[in-house]
Amino acid sequence: MKVAVVGGGGREHAIIKKLRENPRITQLYALPGNGGIGCDAECVPVKATDLDGIEEFVRTHGIEFVVVAPDDPLVMGLVDRLNGIGVPCFGPDAKAAIIEGSKAFSKQLMKKYNIPTARYEIFTDAEQALEYLHSEQAHFPIVLKADGLALGKGVLICQNLAEACEGVRTIMQDKAFGSAGNQMVVEEFLQGPEVSVLAFTDGETLVPMVSSMDHKRALDNDQGLNTGGMGTVAPNPYYTEQAAKTCMETIFLPTIRAMKAEGRPFRGCLYFGLMLTAEGPKVIEYNCRFGDPETQVVLPLLKSDLFEIMLAVSEGRLSSVPVKFSTDSAACVVVASGGYPKKYATGCAISGLDENGRLPKKQVQVYHAGTRREDGGFVTAGGRVLGVTATAPTLEQALQLAYDGAGSVQFEGAYKRTDIGRRALAALAD
Ligand code: AMP
Ligand code: GLY
Repeated sequence: MKVAVVGGGGREHAIIKKLRENPRITQLYALPGNGGIGCDAECVPVKATDLDGIEEFVRTHGIEFVVVAPDDPLVMGLVDRLNGIGVPCFGPDAKAAIIEGSKAFSKQLMKKYNIPTARYEIFTDAEQALEYLHSEQAHFPIVLKADGLALGKGVLICQNLAEACEGVRTIMQDKAFGSAGNQMVVEEFLQGPEVSVLAFTDGETLVPMVSSMDHKRALDNDQGLNTGGMGTVAPNPYYTEQAAKTCMETIFLPTIRAMKAEGRPFRGCLYFGLMLTAEGPKVIEYNCRFGDPETQVVLPLLKSDLFEIMLAVSEGRLSSVPVKFSTDSAACVVVASGGYPKKYATGCAISGLDENGRLPKKQVQVYHAGTRREDGGFVTAGGRVLGVTATAPTLEQALQLAYDGAGSVQFEGAYKRTDIGRRALAALAD
């Protein structure tokens, strides 16, 4: 079969490496892919948001199945368009992708169906938001969220009234996140360990994958700016069997049933961003796709065939295929360009990788996020450059291997956090 994956980051590289295990796939394309992905699939220079270009490529090249990985083409309706020309896809249609595309939608869904989440108010008007923040109903810290897609950056945690007023201006008046800020959610600040759970669902059946823990801040000890994610570990030690059972009953199944009841059945990978609060697990956010860099620790632990699962999801028969995970642990250390998530240089030569962009150890995978091929080698081409993942029987061993691997790759200004997995190890020791 001819299969295409839309996207070009570390998550897509992890998906592609896993898809390559299926012998039925004869040709694998990445749109647009990146330097390292080019060693595992044929890269086609079409942007993930160029819906016309993607449709044209799929039609003219006889592509038989498309995996749409990033949020924006999903929210823009790429799956609807490809289904419209008879091409099956892995990923939700636009009606279902709204669960990530609009925070106002997802909050209202959770309220209507009693799915535990932070208490909230929605505003379309800055003056009303400010009035609310000055009222007795507002408690600090408080969380402001731009309604639409904002590259994971549209969330402001405000310690006091002054910061919150500034935040309203940033989101709704200065439009720092563009039209994502036409509507804003103001919500209660929750506390507790965060857990990411990705789940396969065909709209009826839902199968959670192994849990994971992201490290969103740029600097050690969760300091500095929010980023797309500086590293991950799986499984997440805070996510006990009891927590998993509660989440299944109070969050996961109610969510897919709610989406179905709303006439928006969700097929694809549904991402639950959860906080394990003293009152129980609550939803922080939904994403309509695989997480990045969660995928880079979750998929290496998947023992079953990813492509067969994806086909089953798109055909509504998820309950008929095995979805098994290893009991090993995985750790991913992101190597980023100095300065990320602010301004950074690109075009820096990367040393330490072989000609296929890999490292020698079998347990260590290098997922390319922002690289380009140049003169037979690789150069940096993004903020997050590489995700080095290792799997091992224990988290400690996985972290050791991932850090050894990440340390053997060099480029000018290379930056990584030194404490990925530290909190997870401490939780395991408790
Ligand atoms: P989001 O983009 O919704 O995942 O938010 C980014 C990060 O902000 C989350 O990973 C949390 O660490 C934090 N966050 C979001 N909502 C809340 C909340 N209600 N209470 C506390 N922290 C939050
Ligand atoms: N790692 C968080 C996300 O993919 O949104």
